[in-house]
Amino acid sequence: MNRVYNFSAGPSMLPMTVLEQAAAEMMCYKDSGMSVMEMSHRSPVYEDIIKEAEADLRKLMNIPDNYKVLFLQGGASTQFAAVPLNLLNGSGKADYIVSGQFSGKAFKEAKKYGDVACVATSEDKNFSYIPRTTRDSFRPDADYVHICFNNTIYGTKFDYIPDTGDIPLVADMSSCIISEPVDVSRFGLIYAGAQKNMAPAGLTVVIVREDLLGKCRDIAPTMLDYKVMAENDSMYNTPPCYAIYVAGLVYKWVLELGGLEEMKKLNEKKAAYLYDYLDSQDFYKAPVEKNSRSMMNVTFVTGDAELDKKFASEAGKAGLKNLKGHRSVGGMRASIYNAMPYEGVVALVDFMKKFAEENKK
Ligand SMILES: Cc1ncc(COP(=O)(O)O)c(C=O)c1O
Repeated sequence: MNRVYNFSAGPSMLPMTVLEQAAAEMMCYKDSGMSVMEMSHRSPVYEDIIKEAEADLRKLMNIPDNYKVLFLQGGASTQFAAVPLNLLNGSGKADYIVSGQFSGKAFKEAKKYGDVACVATSEDKNFSYIPRTTRDSFRPDADYVHICFNNTIYGTKFDYIPDTGDIPLVADMSSCIISEPVDVSRFGLIYAGAQKNMAPAGLTVVIVREDLLGKCRDIAPTMLDYKVMAENDSMYNTPPCYAIYVAGLVYKWVLELGGLEEMKKLNEKKAAYLYDYLDSQDFYKAPVEKNSRSMMNVTFVTGDAELDKKFASEAGKAGLKNLKGHRSVGGMRASIYNAMPYEGVVALVDFMKKFAEENKK
């Protein structure tokens, strides 16, 4: 078996031990005589799996008791509509910080449902920084404020939690969830597609404060009503059973590493190794402002589109896969989520040095 270092932005690497355990349990989970893939989601054995996954995520993120954890489908993109359908129910106003493509899509979707404003954006510099806001940036009667905490495409991450006062803060954490500790109580709602740091694609996790439930619009599809999902323990219909099972294995993996403090240290070490190299030379440029740098998605360019192409292609041949930047921005992007080992980043930097040496003008 020849495993590569996979720098894909998502779906992305899963921890080896998780894959091994899933493989070992593939044909027969515990003494059930069947694979998790084949199980009724209503069976006691599966109920234990989903309950344990939720309990472990609560432990890992230190989620307060007045928050519900929902295991849903439809990807983070479905939440772009679910959030306004559930929360845009007082003044009908919501404020968005547009710091990249996904928050732009969330903003556009929400505009279908009410008076939705973009109150801050970094579009002027191709989303290479995180906009600064104060409490005054937001309309005092807004129903919620929406941010994308880590911008997967541009490689930026909020280095602060916006102060929204009493206005619930909603965060898309698809590409940074469980990468470091976060104070859940500062948010009204957190959502994340699981396919980067938690599980295979197909699962979306929503963490929502209880007082925000129960005000969903009548016209909303029942499947998007958080209250219905919460009352049914994410089992209103068939949940993404297998992805939840793998997420549960991943949560245990992080807990065994020592939890999110330890995970953060490992992620900081990986990111620092790569950024320190980028800052020490002038062949590659890192376009993101230093205090907005993401620990999960590291973007860089050579300044020559043909050379960037050559880089991604040669890196791929060297077992460093999926380094091509997002199609809308070009350049390179190394996604170094939780499951990327430190050795993978060292291998990448070694390759970068060699490539720079061979291609210097
Ligand atoms: C930050 C962020 N939000 C939303 C999405 C869209 O997620 P999904 O494909 O699960 O709908 C992505 C996907 O890469 C993302 O990185």
